[in-house]
Amino acid sequence: MLNSSFEKKVRPFLDLIDNLRAVGVDQDVSLPTVAVIGDQSSGKSSVLESLSGVQLPRGSGIVTRCPLALKLKRGGLNWKCKMKYQTAEGQFEEDIMDPSDVGEAVLEAQRMLAGFQKGISKELITLEVESSCTPDLTLIDLPGIARIAVEGQPPDIEKKIKQLILSYIEREETIILVTIPCNVDIATTEALSMAQQCDPQGERTLGVLTKPDLMDPGTEFGAIRVLNNESIKLTKGYVMVKCRSQRDVEGNMTLEDAIEVEKSFFETHSVFKCIEGKCTTQVLANRLTTELVGQIKHLLPGLRKEVNRKFDETVEKLNKLPHAVPTEKKSQSFFINKLIAKYTADVESSALGDYHHVFK
Ligand code: GDP
Ligand code: NA
Ligand code: MG
Repeated sequence: MLNSSFEKKVRPFLDLIDNLRAVGVDQDVSLPTVAVIGDQSSGKSSVLESLSGVQLPRGSGIVTRCPLALKLKRGGLNWKCKMKYQTAEGQFEEDIMDPSDVGEAVLEAQRMLAGFQKGISKELITLEVESSCTPDLTLIDLPGIARIAVEGQPPDIEKKIKQLILSYIEREETIILVTIPCNVDIATTEALSMAQQCDPQGERTLGVLTKPDLMDPGTEFGAIRVLNNESIKLTKGYVMVKCRSQRDVEGNMTLEDAIEVEKSFFETHSVFKCIEGKCTTQVLANRLTTELVGQIKHLLPGLRKEVNRKFDETVEKLNKLPHAVPTEKKSQSFFINKLIAKYTADVESSALGDYHHVFK
């Protein structure tokens, strides 16, 4: 999928981040990720699906009700997936054997975390996916921005969803992917204003134009202006993708087939065929990986400082602790004897009125 020079330049940085995650550094310091935001049904989950090859639950209305982290890792031939989330009873983990079971497993997890209705939760569901054909990326799917609460939702659902989205995109280390359907007025895209609010210079925002096949013929030039960054300007610009329609999904079009269909859609389209390097999921995947690496390079000095600070803090705490009990039997009795000797000496000297050791 990716060429080898790209692989050489990019791989070490992604491996570094993966290794940091593997030792749990991400619990103390923030590592770069990509968050996907957009209005309800703007195509967030579809874009994530085509990037990851992982079949997610989707449809009309609110489907994504919890943040979902897709940790993609290039691995061996065997497809592997582990789902994790935190419940009141503790950490839940499940191995998913078949890619077609992911959707139902995620829906079940959402029911556990956000109830059976249409409410949302900020508890994160994590899917760790290893496969031979995914790019190395960590992507976060978020609930879409809903304007009006529907039955089963709290009246302040819009505020709640926005707060949840903000908590992800406010972080300097998050690359913001904003999905914007081609068939709506881009100026009214709430998600774009939220991204601009958190990232005024547009340094970490990438626009993704979706549903190009749903435009009325003759209206393509508006979309092309956006794609060429002549409308609402983003430093990182825009990429256009075509994902599966609801009918494609119901007709069992696979994600692999969809990539081919997308390719020929852009190659044969009377207007879009003239645009180079800004269309298809493949282009988006490469752009994202490059952006992520750029972001990692940019963050490394700060990350190093943060890790060193945490390290010093921990060493200081460790130094304040009394010496640990040795694990070997032989050293243990020696340790106890030394402790008793010190205790006896302390008691004796206190009896003589010397309390120095107590305040040491
Ligand atoms: P989300 O709510 O933002 O996650 O949106 P979804 O990914 O669930 O997509 C909403 C609906 O739009 C689904 O029925 C998708 O199949 C459909 N859809 C997404 N992308 C495209 C596209 O490029 N073309 C067409 N025709 N339909 C799309
Ligand atoms: Na949806
Ligand atoms: Mg969704």
